[in-house]
Amino acid sequence: MTAELISGTEIRKTILAEIKEEVDQMKEKHGKVPGLVTILVGSSPASVSYVTLKVKTAISCGFHEIQDDQPEDISEADLLALIDKYNNDPDIHGILVQLPLPKHIDDKKVLNAINPDKDVDAFHPVNVGRLMIGGDEVKFLPCTPAGIQEMIVRSGTETSGAEVVVVGRSNIVGKPIAMMMAQKGVGANATVTIVHTRTKDLAAHCKRADILIVAAGVPDLVKPEWIKPGATVIDVGVNRVGMNEKTGKAILKGDVDFDAAKEIAGKITPVPGGVGPMTIAMLMKNTLRSAKLSLG
Ligand code: GUN
Repeated sequence: MTAELISGTEIRKTILAEIKEEVDQMKEKHGKVPGLVTILVGSSPASVSYVTLKVKTAISCGFHEIQDDQPEDISEADLLALIDKYNNDPDIHGILVQLPLPKHIDDKKVLNAINPDKDVDAFHPVNVGRLMIGGDEVKFLPCTPAGIQEMIVRSGTETSGAEVVVVGRSNIVGKPIAMMMAQKGVGANATVTIVHTRTKDLAAHCKRADILIVAAGVPDLVKPEWIKPGATVIDVGVNRVGMNEKTGKAILKGDVDFDAAKEIAGKITPVPGGVGPMTIAMLMKNTLRSAKLSLG
């Protein structure tokens, strides 16, 4: 069997078109558009490329976008003052501080200074708590887990009563996606197991999964014999395993041995072109939601 490919690149296109349409309607009806500020401290090449893509995507959705780049040596106090300014700017609905921050800045302090109602990354403890409570409490879902859930739903995978196994327990992927899949609601109602580096028999747990979500950061960790035939496999891993000498670009590999796994899984995400492209689309979705909530 060859699995059906769940393309993040394709789903992202659809989602961004849906967002653009809503933005056009908001503009016509309310004379307003969602506003996003991206704050980049310093000039690390990886962060610059992420932020550039976020800015480009926001503009393509018709958002009001402020790219607020700051020097590497900005003081913590000045950065906190900048966040306060945007917390009080009614035209800004989403504040994104690109991580990592330089060592002299306490990133927890900075993330906690963002108004939780403008925290479109959903990293603030208030939003983490809201996610735990679930239902109407939830303002924003963290972007990568939200992208994973969208891919599961839009690929037509049944989640209600499904056995979901999440490999990895990070704060930004493993823990929140496990909580989201176990909640009541559409694209959820699953029975969830979290496995990690101290789990005794990783393979046995993975083999039970109707939906296997892998966010471990270990290339080719999941072997084909760990996959239940017909399962939906979501590979969150983005591992740089070398450099293409011709193009000078990094060679990326997921946490799942894709070529072998696609012969056993029912549906599978590729790397690259899977979960990665979804994350920024979800950031746009959160910013639109914030703008809609601000209209009352
Ligand atoms: N750095 C790498 N990924 C992310 C992300 O999702 N949000 C922020 N703010 N910084 C990042």
